Amino acid sequence: MLGNFTYCNPTKLYFGEDSLEALHTELQKYGKNVVLIYGSGSIKRNGIYDAVTAILKEEEKNVAEIAGVMPNPTLTKLYEGVEIARNHHADFILAVGGGSVCDYAKAVSVSVHCAQDPWEKYYVRFEEPDCELVPVGCVLTMVGTGSEMNAGAVITNQDTKQKIGHVFADEAVMPKFSILNPKFTLTLPHDQMAAGIYDIFNHICEQYFSGEDDNTSDYISEGLMRSVIHSSRIAVKNPQDYEARSNLMWTATWALNTLVAKGKTTDWMVHMLGQAVGGVTNATHGMTLAAVSLPYYRFIMPYGLDKMKRFAVNVWDVSAADKSDTAIAEEGLKAMENWMRELGVAMHISELGVTSEMIEDIADKVLAMNGGYKALNREEIVQILRESM
Ligand code: NZQ
Ligand code: ZN
Repeated sequence: MLGNFTYCNPTKLYFGEDSLEALHTELQKYGKNVVLIYGSGSIKRNGIYDAVTAILKEEEKNVAEIAGVMPNPTLTKLYEGVEIARNHHADFILAVGGGSVCDYAKAVSVSVHCAQDPWEKYYVRFEEPDCELVPVGCVLTMVGTGSEMNAGAVITNQDTKQKIGHVFADEAVMPKFSILNPKFTLTLPHDQMAAGIYDIFNHICEQYFSGEDDNTSDYISEGLMRSVIHSSRIAVKNPQDYEARSNLMWTATWALNTLVAKGKTTDWMVHMLGQAVGGVTNATHGMTLAAVSLPYYRFIMPYGLDKMKRFAVNVWDVSAADKSDTAIAEEGLKAMENWMRELGVAMHISELGVTSEMIEDIADKVLAMNGGYKALNREEIVQILRESM
């Protein structure tokens, strides 16, 4: 492990089927004016809304609601939420939903007392907040993004069709607490469950496929990946299996709460490609990642052959006997492909509405990173997008 780092994660987690009870204690720490944020109605259909609002009432909170936060939340919606939170003199923001709702709550939190335009400040100039933040707590209902224990907030500018994630360096942006009740995720439609599972797996890959040093984080990542593969196979066959869904919920949190990135470089190119696709198509996040992954990993394989080989053996149990390094690595990616087909995730960006005429525009929107095994130039980005069709 060669990197220098500090590690601090201030988010307190409450996990399990009784965890919503903790909302009482947590709410008592904050002022009266609460902004309750949620999505397009799933929490009203599955009873979570009633359970949460009953607690807010018992704690005598004065509640304003921001409803209708869409998957891939937009900048227009952010402006609307900031207005509501300002007018309500928000002391606290409670996000009840998936990554979109949690990300959006953080974006509102850093914007309420910000005198500048939040898009320009946080998503164009990537600045850190220099104003008071409104504290955020989350009740998670969809598993995948890790937003419940990180400082990421992805917003889509609907006019320019740019989907940009800002992972804030300031840990004050992280939720003060998150309530993780696996039962709350049991009503997710199959596609969303599968997209979330692939999102978890890819977060780990993004942090694993980088660096040459012997790093504890990579061993943790291998364990997390094995757990995701194991539990996902059970959950796909029986989505109501509590044990599998609870393991998925827990691995999702650890996959992107900064731990496995410590002391090493990270890649994130699948996310950059996927986000560019998502900005143009508004497709489900995990599906955009799945659709570009295999062409990307096959492209970088020769540059990161040792790690690809290790991935095949340690994560997919590929036997290394009497095989070339390339053959072992290819077998690993083939095993991953088979698993992705079992999950039922998108394998091509054409399934998400991308046409060949859109490729150049999408390539223009890809933010090229250089932490992985091969920094991509524009031609290579276009090639990978074409191979993803
Ligand atoms: O809006 P509602 O009605 O709640 O429906 C949602 C939505 O349609 C539904 N859903 C959520 N919980 C449910 C449920 N339906 C039934 N039962 C439940 N219990 O699922 C749909 C998807 O929800 P969403 O929150 O959009 O999904 P996800 O958690 O995948 O979040 C995606 C967003 O997070 C960003 C993505 O880019 C995307 O904008 N990400 C955030 C990251 C971070 N903070 O670090 C990292 C990720 O890589 C990702 O980029
Ligand atoms: Zn992701």
